[in-house]
Parts: sequence; structure tokens; C-alpha cells
Amino acid sequence: MAEVEDELERVIQSEARFVTDAARHLMHAGGKRFRPLLVLLAAETGDPAADGVVTAACVVELTHLASLYHDDVMDEAELRRGAESANHRWDNLVAILTGDFLFSKSSELTARLGADAVRIQAETFTRLVEGQILETLGPGEGDPLEHYLRVVAGKTGSLIATSARYGARFAGASLEVEDALTAYGEKIGEAFQLSDDILDVASDAEESGKTPGTDLREGVLTLPVLLAKRSTDPADARLLELLEEDLTDDSLHAEALRLLRAHPAMAEARSYVQERAAEARELLTVLPDGSPVREALDAFAELIAVRTA
Ligand code: FPP
Ligand code: MG
Ligand code: MG
Repeated sequence: MAEVEDELERVIQSEARFVTDAARHLMHAGGKRFRPLLVLLAAETGDPAADGVVTAACVVELTHLASLYHDDVMDEAELRRGAESANHRWDNLVAILTGDFLFSKSSELTARLGADAVRIQAETFTRLVEGQILETLGPGEGDPLEHYLRVVAGKTGSLIATSARYGARFAGASLEVEDALTAYGEKIGEAFQLSDDILDVASDAEESGKTPGTDLREGVLTLPVLLAKRSTDPADARLLELLEEDLTDDSLHAEALRLLRAHPAMAEARSYVQERAAEARELLTVLPDGSPVREALDAFAELIAVRTA
């Protein structure tokens, strides 16, 4: 990870000093480095010191970081990783161009990894953007929960699946292991986003580094809300009424957040996370029983499951 950090710092240097500062802003604001860590862990299935492993870890972190700059513009977010979001600190133009810059840097690094990596990266990016577009368009006439799960797979499952794939691939693991780890990554990626959406409701700003209830305020329907909306219990009448309101109003927003936090939909939402984490762990049977890498990946899936428990 130290090598990854050094390489990331090198890569964001630009002749346009301002861009480097704007890119550094979120890069150093914290962040779990979840995706590069998964690349390195997955690389333990082969030779983790092989060429390309560290580069691939940087590629996924830069892609992710780029998407956060754009995401905060679309979500009009003010807080990210406990710091001011770039759109709030500067403006939308700076945030969008910094995202573009990080994305181009990630593409430069991908090119070093060869044509197959360029193809995988392009396919991943398509899924990422399509997931975001689906979210923006909304469910239309379709089933909202099904739509939501497709969005989650696209905007988060895709890049985390690719992180696991890169690790296995560049470490020289077999294709069987690479494919199993990719499926594992997809599952924990989904679990990760679902738990993120639960935390948006459940945690305070101190814990998450974001403003709580942002999705609710913006009218983005996430898992807890979608599940609560299915309730036919008369005791939920007030919550259901509020969920139809414009929740940019502070007092309505606070009331909705309080009712939602106490609703059984929260426990049900957590069971969706548990299910995906369990499926992910099942996929690890491709690795030798008791091997350190299997134990580590198993613990990694477990960690996501307990994040919201
Ligand atoms: C976070 O979701 C957003 C994503 C995981 C991906 C968003 C994808 C794009 C903006 C398109 C990609 C663009 C580039 C240049 C890579 P969230 O808003 O639900 O999570 P949050 O709580 O972290 O804001
Ligand atoms: Mg967001
Ligand atoms: Mg978003």
C-alpha cells in the first residue's frame, strides 16, 4: 500500500499546479483505499510482487476518485471523506475537470498494463457510467427495487469486481481463480454499496465523513427507503407520507430520518448485505482451504458485513 500511495502521489503531478492541488484535496482527505487493497489481496493468489499489480491498484483508486468528484457534483454533496467536497470548496467546473484529469491519469496507467487491461478498464467504465445513468433516469415504470439493485451492480459492483480481477490476473493466477475472484468482487462490491446506503441513514457525520440522510434529502431511493415503502402497516402512515414529500425541508427531513432509523426496513436492508457477503465467501472455495489468502479475503467479506451490523 505504501508503494501505491507513492505512485498515486507521482501520478497526480501536473504542470497545472491547481489541478494537482484539487486532486490532492480528496486523495489525502482519507478514504479507505478499499479497491487498491482488494487488488493487493487478490494478488496474493499468485505473485503479489509481479509487474502490474501496484499499477493496477493505482488504476482502480484513480478511477474511483475521479467518479467521486463527478458524483459529488451530481449529488450536490458538500462533504466527502470528512472534508469539503471539491464542488463545494471550489465549484462544479473545478470538480468536473479534476475528475476528468484523474480519469485520464488512470487511463495512462492502464495503457502500461497492455491491451487486455485497456479493454477490461473500458468495459468497467461503461458499466460504471451506465449504473450512474440508470440512477439518474430513475426506475420509470419498472420495479424500483430491481432497478436499484441494477444501479448498485453497475456503479459499484463493476469496479470492485475489476479490482479483484486485476489482482489475480497480474499476479499470474489461473483463469479459474481470476473468474471466481471477479465474481467475489462483484458480490462484496454490491454489499459495500448497500451498506453505504444503509450508513447514509444510520450513521452520523462523524462516523461516515458525509452528511447523514443525503440520499433522502435528494430523493434518491436507496434500499432502506425502498423496503420501508413496501410496508402496509398503518403505524407507518406518517413515514410513508413523508417519503412522498420534498425532504429538502430541514424539519421534514429530520422527522423522516428519525422514523426511518427506527423502522424494521433497516434490519431487512442489513440482511441484503449479509446475503451478498455470504455468497462472496462461498466463491472462495476455489482457493485452498485454510490458505492465508483465502482467510484474508474471507475476513474482508466479513468486514463489510459487520460494517452496518
Ligand atoms: C457513489 O455513489 C458513486 C459511484 C460509486 C459512481 C458514480 C459514477 C459516476 C459519477 C460516473 C463516472 C465518472 C468518472 C469520470 C469516473 P453514491 O452517490 O451513492 O455514494 P456516496 O454516498 O459516496 O456519495
Ligand atoms: Mg454521492
Ligand atoms: Mg451518487
